[in-house]
Amino acid sequence: MKPSLALPALLLVLAGPAHGAADPETVARGKYLAAAGDCVACHTAPDGRPYAGGRAVESPFGDIYSSNITPDRKFGIGDYSLEDFSRAVRLGVRKDGAQLYPAMPYPSYAKISDADIAALYAFFMNGIEAVPQAAPKTALAWPFSMRWGVKFWNWAFAPEGVSAHAEAPDPLGRGRYLVESLGHCGSCHTPRGLAFQEKGYGADDEHFLAGAEIGGWPTPSLRAGGSGRGLPQWSEDDIVEFLATGRNRFGAVVGEMELVITHSTSQLTEADNRAIATFLKSLPAHADTSAAAPAAAPDTAQRLTAAKVDVNSGERLYLDNCNACHFVDGKGAPPAFPPLAGNTLVEAESPSGVIHVILSGARLPSTPRAPSDIAMPNFDWRLSDDEVAKIASFVRSSWGNRGDAVTADQVAKIRKEIGKVKPSAAPDVK
Ligand code: HEC
Ligand code: HEC
Ligand code: HEC
Repeated sequence: MKPSLALPALLLVLAGPAHGAADPETVARGKYLAAAGDCVACHTAPDGRPYAGGRAVESPFGDIYSSNITPDRKFGIGDYSLEDFSRAVRLGVRKDGAQLYPAMPYPSYAKISDADIAALYAFFMNGIEAVPQAAPKTALAWPFSMRWGVKFWNWAFAPEGVSAHAEAPDPLGRGRYLVESLGHCGSCHTPRGLAFQEKGYGADDEHFLAGAEIGGWPTPSLRAGGSGRGLPQWSEDDIVEFLATGRNRFGAVVGEMELVITHSTSQLTEADNRAIATFLKSLPAHADTSAAAPAAAPDTAQRLTAAKVDVNSGERLYLDNCNACHFVDGKGAPPAFPPLAGNTLVEAESPSGVIHVILSGARLPSTPRAPSDIAMPNFDWRLSDDEVAKIASFVRSSWGNRGDAVTADQVAKIRKEIGKVKPSAAPDVK
């Protein structure tokens, strides 16, 4: 044996990861899967170190703080075996036996395959830095403070078992696997029942991805098959473009979905985003079968360009404040300025999304395929509740849009909410 070779090898073993030698390929695959699972979005506090936990995940029972999942042995999951890790991620059981709250999307992650769990484990043990820092403790009020209660919830609601599509070679099966398991898209897009359970955890259920509301924002239905308004009008290419860049000819991303685009879908391969789109297209649209796309009604544009527009009307306010970027025909200039005509957020049953955007503004995420920094200004300092209500009512009912009118009270309520919360900074991680 040549000592000159053995010594560096020995040093490498001593200094190297204590979690078995993971080959770099598996670690890289785990990194990709962690992006598909968007683990970083929840497990990083605003301005915190990646994966060190401490982000408050809202639930109807109170804030639940995410755990430190870096390989630190004291504060993180450094002493988790593969078995422990698998139980936590797929079954929601901590190493010490305590139940995790379903704010951690283990009901979806239950479907992750054994091979993918092993790759994720390799990445978390070998691919990220240990952060020796305790995440804040979750303290829910009784009875929710009793973690064992979650056992009954699991028994009643949580689906079990790895997806039958985990190794699917076809795009439809692959898309189904990504959406139902790692993507946990249903945690925001599926309506919730009384016990806060998702009303369906897979494609076999008609409630799956049928649209919901989170944090006061409407989350649109993702059932993109058939006809009707919203996603059924998007082609597969439109969906792929939105997932990769956060924008397309129908609109631009705002709100919670921005974290999903920034840290998850924009990092996926074109093939995987296409698989997701293929799967969404295969889901028949929900009950709302109201006729097809609005034929961009020309009368709104005509009304706006007519010589006389009432001084204090929604039309006038739109011309003065919005027209520069979204134009009289409401078509904007995608991908930089999204259209408001036929836009899901604008037409949503709940007007809270539009009101939020007008008051707070919005900034498009910069993604690998669309690196840019384009923003919509905030109007909260400039427009009264009544003016915002008039503009919102106007855009919701023009160019063929069919949303209800908005009241000044609705605006006042959201203005108050916004005043209370600090804007949630997207964690800055690559
Ligand atoms: C929607 C937010 C969210 C996402 C996404 C998420 N987690 Fe979690 N996770 C949490 C929360 C919240 C907790 C703590 C729950 C509790 O204390 O009951 C947690 C706990 C955990 C734990 C338990 C650790 C411990 O000992 O306390 C592990 C392991 C874990 N997550 C891994 C992951 C991995 C891996 C991913 C990505 C595949 C992921 N999480 C994605 C919210 C999330
Ligand atoms: C300086 C240009 C500019 C002006 C002026 C402007 N916007 Fe925007 N608007 C944008 C950009 C850019 C976005 C995309 C931001 C994003 O998605 O993060 C946007 C997004 C939106 C959205 C969300 C669309 C979607 O697909 O999610 C709505 C609704 C909206 N604007 C309405 C308005 C209204 C109403 C006004 C007038 C009060 C207005 N905008 C004024 C540039 C502008
Ligand atoms: C943390 C919550 C959350 C998660 C998780 C989430 N979304 Fe979303 N999504 C939203 C919200 C809120 C909107 C509405 C805002 C917007 O359109 O920009 C949205 C909008 C969308 C839209 C645009 C629909 C339309 O008609 O305008 C698509 C497509 C989409 N999401 C796909 C997905 C997919 C695919 C996944 C899983 C990989 C996913 N989302 C996971 C919250 C979420």
